[in-house]
Amino acid sequence: MKTRVAVIFGGVSVEHEVSVISALQAIHAMDTMKYEIIPIYISKNREWYSGEKLLEIENYKQLDQLLKEVDTVVLEQAADNQVVLKKKERGLFSKGIISTIDVVFPVVHGTNGEDGSLQGYLELLGLPYVGCDVASSAAGMDKVIMKQILRDSGVPIVDYRWFYASAWQENKEHIIQYADELAYPVIVKPANLGSSVGISKATNPEELEEAIDLAVSYSNKIIIEKMITNLTEVNCSVLGDYENVESSVCERVLMTDEILSYKDKYQSGGKTGDTKGMESVNRIIPADISEEATLKVKELAEKTFQLLNASGVSRIDFLLNDEGEIFVNEINTIPGSLSFYLWEPSGKNFQQLTDELIRLALKRERERQSIHFSIDSNLFSLHGKGSKGSKGK
Ligand SMILES: Nc1ncnc2c1ncn2[C@@H]1O[C@H](COP(=O)(O)OP(=O)(O)O)[C@@H](O)[C@H]1O
Ligand SMILES: [Mg+2]
Repeated sequence: MKTRVAVIFGGVSVEHEVSVISALQAIHAMDTMKYEIIPIYISKNREWYSGEKLLEIENYKQLDQLLKEVDTVVLEQAADNQVVLKKKERGLFSKGIISTIDVVFPVVHGTNGEDGSLQGYLELLGLPYVGCDVASSAAGMDKVIMKQILRDSGVPIVDYRWFYASAWQENKEHIIQYADELAYPVIVKPANLGSSVGISKATNPEELEEAIDLAVSYSNKIIIEKMITNLTEVNCSVLGDYENVESSVCERVLMTDEILSYKDKYQSGGKTGDTKGMESVNRIIPADISEEATLKVKELAEKTFQLLNASGVSRIDFLLNDEGEIFVNEINTIPGSLSFYLWEPSGKNFQQLTDELIRLALKRERERQSIHFSIDSNLFSLHGKGSKGSKGK
């Protein structure tokens, strides 16, 4: 029997559209001899949909029409411990089971998908899923937490300060001092978004104020970083889990502006709607940097992946300055286009990549089941001997 894989995409995030593109790319790459693919689209207003028509990118141009032609659905735990996808009708759950689900493949970028919230929901349902778990997703999404973990292990990162939006409203002077400490120019970022949304550069206190005002409109946690001038941006993808990892070839990404923008990332092919996802960014593969720098980037990428306890496929982004220094900028735990374009030249085609991701998800599930089982049996045996719960601690 085929493995039933529910690919979840869309979601409540500024990267909604990019997620649709990445997910459809992955779906079209997957081996239909092995997998029965069930697309689940989460709309911007949190409604879940499933249906054949979701498989074609063309259909998303008329989204209202598309959503009329597919079913609104819900995941539900059935009595026999299986999770089923059911039709939802007029606010009531119908008896119309669409399918059982063996494994979920989340391809939701950014908030509510890449940050651990979807992963937490899947954990509650007891469904195995591809990619990072709750903690590693959350740590990877929050630029401050990520940097704290990396700094703790001596991974090179750029100098930074962070604060809550409320602190900005209360004491602007104090926060402007942060930038003085770092020395201009600085970059201001919302701590937990993606796709360059809300990010800007500041070369003086006036620009800093503007940059922070913009960032606080997107997040309540803000980070100010020292800006690398004469910047080279290099990315490397890592595949694996806590036990085994491999890193891909590196890419150098080219920007049209000082900050690699949403436009550079997704619309560089021309007009909106023509977008092909992350693989359409202007890039050089393999990155035209020294062999020594390439090896260092790959080593740091693997280290970052394992320190954050990542799983599946991630892309780790680096900032290189003209003095040969290399800094980890961020990890993307559900990277655009799943970084397939970095794995192809590394000897793994997109289909093999999706196979490997599903294999890793099922491996983690097997490992978890054995952990749960042993804890349960210990508790039962303690109770059986007349133990009174916590008393024996
Ligand atoms: N410290 C920095 N110095 C110079 N440029 C930076 C720095 N941080 C970010 N950038 C630029 O801004 C872009 C977006 O920042 P990034 O941290 O990757 O946020 P996002 O999660 O939105 O992709 C980067 O790709 C890079 O072009
Ligand atoms: Mg980035």
